[in-house]
Amino acid sequence: MVNNVIEAKSLVKNYGDFTAVNNISFNVKKGEVFAFLGPNGAGKTTTVEMMECLKSLTAGSIKILGNDIKNDEIEIKRRIGVLPQDFGAFQLLTVYQNIDYFAQMYPKHVEVDDLIKMLGLKDKRDILFGYLSGGLKQRVGIAISLVNDPEIVFLDEPTTGLDPKARRDVWAAIKDLKARGKTIILTTHYMEEAQNLADRVCILHNGRIIAEGTPEDLIGRYGGDKMLIIRKCSETAKNELINTIQEYAIDGDNVLVKLSGENDMKIISKAASIIDTGKSTCEELYVKKATLEDVFLNLTGDKLIEGGK
Ligand SMILES: Nc1ncnc2c1ncn2[C@@H]1O[C@H](COP(=O)(O)OP(=O)(O)OP(=O)(O)O)[C@@H](O)[C@H]1O
Ligand SMILES: [Mg+2]
Repeated sequence: MVNNVIEAKSLVKNYGDFTAVNNISFNVKKGEVFAFLGPNGAGKTTTVEMMECLKSLTAGSIKILGNDIKNDEIEIKRRIGVLPQDFGAFQLLTVYQNIDYFAQMYPKHVEVDDLIKMLGLKDKRDILFGYLSGGLKQRVGIAISLVNDPEIVFLDEPTTGLDPKARRDVWAAIKDLKARGKTIILTTHYMEEAQNLADRVCILHNGRIIAEGTPEDLIGRYGGDKMLIIRKCSETAKNELINTIQEYAIDGDNVLVKLSGENDMKIISKAASIIDTGKSTCEELYVKKATLEDVFLNLTGDKLIEGGK
């Protein structure tokens, strides 16, 4: 039997006349990374805050670890951890003091130094929070979300605004949490983040779920074709390619060839052999695989906002 740790049914959240979350249902399985992917304003934070007992439900129901959100708030809060969006801690306390401050709120808590070690913060233990870089601050936030040794951890946009190196460090920390058996609910508007970390992705758009599945599954269903892209072809190369390859499209100097799975290697090597001769040149030849960005674009006609890039 599937072990669901979260069961959300027909969730609705209205702010006055505005419906931010519009009748969504989903289940999260024990031990998985479940990502809500969507652009600004999609309803990601509102959805997680309802699960975190921070926002009331306009309609619908949520069960967390078998407990009803409406009746068992204290039990749920005891067993979950939260990294809020735009997390901040006390600037004038050290890393240790900040984590310890939150740990002291729980009668039973994880050793603060164990959390510091787990998040790779040993060197920064006695540094003021205000002096840390963005990535290190987020890692302190994740440590704080773990003080009560939660079974489910909610991470709301844990890498927004971070540089690529800091983002990868936070990804490593999230993978480590999964390896320790935690269930992780992640929100992000970075498709690479969802693709890299999530076992299952729920794409939110205007408060609705527009698709749900594993990244591979979503890309397979909605991503479109794999393409061979031959950029900036000379006139000779373009003519030769057109004469030799059957399914192609022309975009200015570029030739795009659909790869359907069968004979892909033959098509690629044929194209490469044409390019290699005399006047037949191009600037670049590569295979483009569909991504979750293509999935979003194909489903909505909009681009996911790729902030910080
Ligand atoms: N307290 C509130 N009162 C009124 N409207 C709100 C409130 N909180 C959120 N909203 C609106 O609800 C919608 C969903 O907001 P939410 O913060 O859940 O989106 P999000 O997907 O987390 O976006 P982001 O990626 O920017 O964090 C937005 O249009 C937002 O302006
Ligand atoms: Mg948000």
